[in-house]
Amino acid sequence: MNKLIKLLIIAVMVTSSFLHIVVSNMDKNQIVIPIDCNDNSQQVQPTAINSIYNNATIIVLSSLIPTHPSIYMIEKTITSIRNMIQGLSNPKIIISIDGLPPEKQINENFDRLQNYTHALRKRYHNDISIQILTQYKNLHINNCIRNALEYVDTKYVYIMQHDFEMVRIVNHTEIIDAMENDPDTLQIVRFDKGVGKGKLRNYHAVLKQRGCHDRWYKNGTKFVMGRWSDNNHLTTKDYYERVFRKIGSVSRPLEHFFLDTRRWPDLDCYFGNQWMYDWDPKNPFLHHLDGRNTEVIQS
Ligand SMILES: *[C@@H]1O[C@H](CO)[C@@H](O)[C@H](O)[C@H]1NC(C)=O
Ligand SMILES: *[C@@H]1O[C@H](CO)[C@@H](O)[C@H](O)[C@H]1NC(C)=O
Ligand SMILES: *[C@@H]1O[C@H](CO)[C@@H](O)[C@H](O)[C@H]1NC(C)=O
Ligand SMILES: *[C@@H]1O[C@H](CO)[C@@H](O)[C@H](O)[C@H]1NC(C)=O
Repeated sequence: MNKLIKLLIIAVMVTSSFLHIVVSNMDKNQIVIPIDCNDNSQQVQPTAINSIYNNATIIVLSSLIPTHPSIYMIEKTITSIRNMIQGLSNPKIIISIDGLPPEKQINENFDRLQNYTHALRKRYHNDISIQILTQYKNLHINNCIRNALEYVDTKYVYIMQHDFEMVRIVNHTEIIDAMENDPDTLQIVRFDKGVGKGKLRNYHAVLKQRGCHDRWYKNGTKFVMGRWSDNNHLTTKDYYERVFRKIGSVSRPLEHFFLDTRRWPDLDCYFGNQWMYDWDPKNPFLHHLDGRNTEVIQS
């Protein structure tokens, strides 16, 4: 009987001190907004928590293709990103549009690019989560990413191509959970567009010689190592900062650096390759809308 009372007293003490902690934390964090009784729109909003598990920035890379000035393709891509990447709540999307390369600099192309950018700005004019960046020179993918990174306030960033529609669900939370637990291994994760088994087998033989692991399972999620590619991927802002420190400011496709083993003979496995998220040759994540080879679509 005595024991029971003692236990009860302890329980009450623990509960009340716990309650005290909760209450004092609430005191500190609560923002008191004077509420006007006639105005129902005044509500106490919870402070936005920039959680790495449900926030990331999405950079969509764009450049002139035959279907421009139609925005049909990029619109389809953006809609698919918003539908397929699950776990993100209204992420910031930065569209980074490259300038014309010298061989394409004719009046008609300047007009098409101008009209494309104009149509995009009009289309997303009321969408505060979309920012549109333009480059006046041809900066290639590396410097289009570099310029967009200046406006990235999140730890994680998706790099997407304007003509890759996402066709399979990506569980953002699940990937971040794996990346947070092994940041040195899972540095950069790619979404496959359908690389064949044979091609991968050959590449894995090369990786094995270099002592790189080619498979990784984390909390039931499968990652398979693939060659570095600028196809849609997810990484940290820090990863790209390291890349840019290494390659300098020359404008070039990024594959030129990653696929040239003479340039970087002892490139670290996990920096110089990408992990393909839940790779399944029969069930790719991307559908190539093929902007380069498609006829003009009237929007
Ligand atoms: C996500 O990050 C952006 C910065 O890019 C920030 O403005 C926004 O409040 C964050 N959203 C959430 C839900 O955390
Ligand atoms: C660009 O837009 C202008 C104004 O709407 C139009 O006159 C012109 O034909 C368009 N040019 C191209 C190449 O789309
Ligand atoms: C995503 O993954 C997380 C962590 O593994 C899991 O809790 C959640 O249910 C998954 N979401 C969906 C939509 O499958
Ligand atoms: C994933 O695994 C790590 C240990 O490797 C663990 O700390 C973490 O809680 C796991 N996450 C989930 C959602 O199971």
